[in-house]
Amino acid sequence: MRPPAEAIGTLGLIVGAIAVLIFIGVESALVYVVWRYRASRVATPARFDRNTRLEVAWTAAPALTLAVVFVLMLGTLRDIGAATDAQLHVRATGHQWWWEFAYSGIVTANEMHIPIDTTIDLELASVDVNHSFWVPELGGKTDMIPGQINHLRLLTHRPGVYLGQCAEFCGVEHAWMRIRVVAESKDDFDRWLAAQALPATASGPGAAVFQANTCVNCHAIRGTGAHGTAGPDLTHLAGRATIAAGVLPSDAASIRAWLADPQRYKPGAFMPRVPLTDADLDALASYLVSLK
Ligand code: CUA
Repeated sequence: MRPPAEAIGTLGLIVGAIAVLIFIGVESALVYVVWRYRASRVATPARFDRNTRLEVAWTAAPALTLAVVFVLMLGTLRDIGAATDAQLHVRATGHQWWWEFAYSGIVTANEMHIPIDTTIDLELASVDVNHSFWVPELGGKTDMIPGQINHLRLLTHRPGVYLGQCAEFCGVEHAWMRIRVVAESKDDFDRWLAAQALPATASGPGAAVFQANTCVNCHAIRGTGAHGTAGPDLTHLAGRATIAAGVLPSDAASIRAWLADPQRYKPGAFMPRVPLTDADLDALASYLVSLK
């Protein structure tokens, strides 16, 4: 089966071509009639009541055109909907306002890795309100509805980073619900998955700050005592390019600035401002940035 983005692109070109042909046909006929029967050439217009053949033709032609488009669309739906040929299953869950991606055994956030040349069944869920998963270059756009699992087929042959965005208004930080999809070779993907499966090994004074504060209520860092699930899993946080679903890069300075005042960068987000000393902020930022 075709990559979903290719199927959508091809359908778009065909429907566009049909629309252009209809436009040219209708406009040509209009211009011709206006010119051919202009007042200076036809003194008294002819009168007629009906032309059955013409009426049948202009009823049948659009109906046939739409029937053709309908059939082409059914073929496209098969390529973009639930994957019957899936080789990998990933669960994407929408949260206000970030994404959770679960592979068998591991959980990550906001940045999703996929192997190229592999058909993926993306299971779409939501824990709070309606969100919508949309990475235009990879395929269709599908809503994530609480209490329901929707499916989206993903497949690409081209490695690279694909950017996406929540496409259903879901609250104040809807615009900062970015998706990064890293498509890579099967080998690179397997290496990434194996690395993600490992528990965090970083330590240092920041680890103690993390454990001693409310961080652990919302975040998990596998291999430590932090098992919160309300916020993103941070086990390999620094392996992702951004934090807070795309708001800031994942370098130490940005992480520190974020920790010092999350509401400054993402007003309305559920990450509270935890009162920490400058020394604690430094320690926490250098701990988090070491979670590769
Ligand atoms: Cu989630 Cu908009």
